[in-house]
Amino acid sequence: MSSHPSQKTALITGVNGQDGSYLAELLLEKGYHVVGTVRRASTFNRWRLDPIYRNLEDRHGKMDLVYADLNDASSLMHALRQAMPDEIYNIGAQSHVGISFETPEYTAESDALGVLRLLEAMRALGLDKTARFYQASTSELYGNAKEVPQNEQTPFHPRSPYAVAKLYAYWIVRNYRDAYGIYGVNGILFNHESPRRGENFVTKKITRSLARIKLGKLDTLRLGNLDAKRDWGYAKEYVEAMWQMLQQPTPDDYVIATGETHTVREFVEEACRCLDIPLAWHGTGADEHGVDTRTGKTVIALDPRYLRPTEVDVLQGDITKAQAQLGWKPRVTFHELVRLMVDYDLKHVEQETPVFIDG
Ligand code: NAP
Ligand code: GDD
Repeated sequence: MSSHPSQKTALITGVNGQDGSYLAELLLEKGYHVVGTVRRASTFNRWRLDPIYRNLEDRHGKMDLVYADLNDASSLMHALRQAMPDEIYNIGAQSHVGISFETPEYTAESDALGVLRLLEAMRALGLDKTARFYQASTSELYGNAKEVPQNEQTPFHPRSPYAVAKLYAYWIVRNYRDAYGIYGVNGILFNHESPRRGENFVTKKITRSLARIKLGKLDTLRLGNLDAKRDWGYAKEYVEAMWQMLQQPTPDDYVIATGETHTVREFVEEACRCLDIPLAWHGTGADEHGVDTRTGKTVIALDPRYLRPTEVDVLQGDITKAQAQLGWKPRVTFHELVRLMVDYDLKHVEQETPVFIDG
């Protein structure tokens, strides 16, 4: 696995996910040799990497995939030894907050100890002196936030096994920075979405399901808490901030967000507007539901299965620091984000075979 002497090499864990695939594209455009870690699955699930491989010859960089798992220290060691990267982006994680309540131990292994394993592998290979490390930290750290909006100084109060695991990861990166001088940064990213978002995150679940309803392939979309507020941005822009963080003269931690917050309910309403589904809310509490006033059919219903034992009520980021030091700011608006997800899903739902989505 060799690269040209002047070519930078980046190792991306979780390259097969939403952010990993956009980051790989960005780094390939910049001429990097990208080494992405993937996991074996019983069904082939590389659809996000398809566009990258299709256009690989048009890009400057090159890409290799290696099998590695954050729960398997020897596989991480092999991957790092093969790549000997200049930059390491730890994007891989069990990233679903709701599911972390059902798999808390697995989530802690991959999202907390997985980070320790990577940092220790860096030390063992001498990469602590030469490579830069990006950790995918999260606005979930704020949890039951003490203030709105949240910035790099806002105290953390995690509210899920996922967030508690990510809290360990955040602090172990800071500790290795202080203790061993590792160039390690935490990107505290608020929710970011795209057509490549996994289908059991709420935005994609909404746009995909409403597209199915519009085309007569589904009757009702079932959701949990409609009142949660999130700061939703466009994933393709957020990976630019990841790269920028690793180009700074000294390592630091940054909040990346849009600064705007919207409820899940508002996201549903915006998606319905994009699809020309006239929506009216009826009922209260657990009986609340959304009706298509043109057909009289219930298109949105509540389902307690999607409520979490502890919820994060409101996330809204303050990007003053990232704007000043990285020159990063979001470009795609909330309306444009919903529109581009809806347009993608409408096109793809037409060709799909029925699938079962839970989460
Ligand atoms: P995603 O689409 O769920 O992708 C996660 C990736 O991690 C997938 O490729 C997955 O592999 C891989 N992965 C899962 N468990 C692993 C393990 N044990 N070892 C190695 N790889 C593993 O998530 P995303 O939205 O791109 O998020 C990327 C990162 O940012 C995650 O760490 C997430 O926690 C964090 N984050 C996300 C957001 C957001 O709003 N998207 C915000 C803040 C932070 P498979 O493809 O094989 O499943
Ligand atoms: N997934 C899901 N499914 N969420 C629902 C549903 C549903 O049917 N109904 C309501 N929600 C609410 C959740 O309770 C939550 O308040 C909100 O919608 C957003 O849920 P998700 O889209 O699952 O994302 P998240 O905010 O919990 O976590 C995402 O963002 C974090 C950054 O703040 C993930 O990408 C995490 O990995 C990331 O760290």
